[in-house]
Amino acid sequence: MAANRPLVAGNWKMNGLAAALAELKALQERLAEHPAPEADIMVFPPATLLAQARYALRGSDILLGAQDCHIAASGAHTGDLSAEMLADVGASAVIVGHSERRADHAETDALVKAKASAAHRAGLTAIVCIGETAEERRDGAALEVVGRQLKGSLPDRARASDTVIAYEPVWAIGTGLTPTPEDVAEMHGFIRRELGLLAESAEAWALRILYGGSVKPGNAGELLSVPNVDGALVGGASLKAADFYAIASIYAGNTRRR
Ligand code: PGA
Repeated sequence: MAANRPLVAGNWKMNGLAAALAELKALQERLAEHPAPEADIMVFPPATLLAQARYALRGSDILLGAQDCHIAASGAHTGDLSAEMLADVGASAVIVGHSERRADHAETDALVKAKASAAHRAGLTAIVCIGETAEERRDGAALEVVGRQLKGSLPDRARASDTVIAYEPVWAIGTGLTPTPEDVAEMHGFIRRELGLLAESAEAWALRILYGGSVKPGNAGELLSVPNVDGALVGGASLKAADFYAIASIYAGNTRRR
């Protein structure tokens, strides 16, 4: 992935049987017909489809990622997948610390950091998710919570070429609700400044910061033009090629702002 390009990432979550690969084909066709938007395009199907997705996407610029990984490279961890296995099947990135995993599997910042480090060990880009709940925002604690998650989850020596931050307010995921552009600008500016302070490597301030949470074709233009928003992590709207392509098309003609 080119670290200086926006990234539009589609997280399928626990959706998609083999028939859903037709959407990948459709996405590939759209991207082939209309010159690729000035962005990296990445899809994160369920692990069961990674091998077939790799085959379906051969010859295309669409990148493949996985939704989670274990911290170990191998061993007695029934049902888990290592970052090395994901790299082996063709993934070039893995999402870690998604709020659904933090909530459903009690994942802590320390575990998320260890997973991001495991991703790096295997040569994968780590997409590190952070974001506050509705209650935390109501209490005026959004910046504090996100700052704490960032500090606790950021892997050592994170660089723009191997680490991406995804800011996803929990209350915006799958709800149709989104923060105002002003709130997004405030949070992304805050994350950018914190990266500059936290990071050991001089280039860490330049990590891409994605916005995620109810990104749709209708609101992507507004959300993705906010300063310090370097792309989107898209859930529901990534399941249909037409919608996902419409979101990625925001970057056609290199309209990126920073
Ligand atoms: P959503 O999910 O776009 O369906 O809100 C975003 C995400 O969880 O990454």
